[in-house]
Amino acid sequence: MIANTKPIDILAVRRDFPLLSVTNRNKPVVYLDSGSSAQKPQSVINAMADFYRTGYANIHRGIYELSEKASQHYENVRAEVKTFINAKSADEIVFVRGTTEAINLVAHSFGRTNLKAGDEILVSEMEHHSNIVPWHLLREQIGVILKVIPITDDGEINMDAYRALFSPRTKVVAITQASNVLGTINQIKLMTQIAHDHDAVVVVDGAQAVPHMPVDVSDLDCDFYAFSAHKLYGPSGVGVLYGKQKWLEQMQPYQGGGGMIESVTFEQITFAKSPHKFEAGTPDIAGVIGLSAAMKYIDTIGKEAIFTHEQALLHYTQAKLAAIPGLRIIGTAKSKVGVISFVLEGIHPHDIRTVLDHEGIAIRAGHHCAQPIMQRFNVPATVRVSLGIYNTEKDIDALVDAIQLTKRLFA
Ligand code: ALA
Repeated sequence: MIANTKPIDILAVRRDFPLLSVTNRNKPVVYLDSGSSAQKPQSVINAMADFYRTGYANIHRGIYELSEKASQHYENVRAEVKTFINAKSADEIVFVRGTTEAINLVAHSFGRTNLKAGDEILVSEMEHHSNIVPWHLLREQIGVILKVIPITDDGEINMDAYRALFSPRTKVVAITQASNVLGTINQIKLMTQIAHDHDAVVVVDGAQAVPHMPVDVSDLDCDFYAFSAHKLYGPSGVGVLYGKQKWLEQMQPYQGGGGMIESVTFEQITFAKSPHKFEAGTPDIAGVIGLSAAMKYIDTIGKEAIFTHEQALLHYTQAKLAAIPGLRIIGTAKSKVGVISFVLEGIHPHDIRTVLDHEGIAIRAGHHCAQPIMQRFNVPATVRVSLGIYNTEKDIDALVDAIQLTKRLFA
């Protein structure tokens, strides 16, 4: 397929998202919280509503036309995801509830099968709790050791420290491709090569990367890759775990139930092949169909075009914010997605958020489910702007005006 590199028609894109026309506190909404969850284009909303209106049935269970078609539709999306992230086979794609469930699945299923007390797991200082807590739970259960990859003052992985952390006991590297607080894009391909040189597997949290840049899991060569539909302009409650077939085949199921077995007696159970053995119970069928529509939407606009648009806006935002006296950006890595965290001298991030909210601006303030980053930068919280495909310089100008107002109110 030839990559679509045409610049984004931003007005047309904005018209695709009905929510951008609503108000927030009686002001036109300025939505700058896509890192938390992105808004949905009409095509995603339609695809899900159409499925419920005219195509709904459970999958992989009924031998009647509606069920067969729904099953086919669902399995087609598995193949679409394979293409979207360039996996080698649709069998490497497991549908889950989201990034969090994907990482829990790997920690518990891969971890319990392959790790033992004293084995080491490297996690970076910039991880979201969803890439820390599952490994912590595993530590409590089987006694693995968590080692922390430090980050620099710019919010980049300290690569020398990373290399130095490996030992013969290092079995897993758990790393985000893009930080939800700092925006840093990590060098996943290089980090994976280094990990593989030490026979460690690499688990990548791709939640903040997939919506903003082309991702090729075959090129990255990571062992597992997780992302959520809801940050990718798709529905909440559905996500993807990519896993190399050699791992998925040998891993035990994470949950048991319907749809993941071959045969069951009270004496013995045999499981379906992966990926089905990891999809116990009725999945979010409409959610998977919504994910399909979201990926099609992204492909229509073009991943490169989205990256270019958001990078330009990232630089515009950083320049505007950096010019505000007393404002400090946390996370100044060379390579970033459109996530900008900041603090403002003398005003608590939650107070800033309250004023911005009243100006119609939707942003997140707090620890962003990444408390170790707050500790690393010695701040209680940050205000976070996270950009999406539909944001414009006008949104950023409104943000800057609201920050100036906050400063006057708190002067
Ligand atoms: N992980 C999401 C965020 O960073 C919810 O806001």
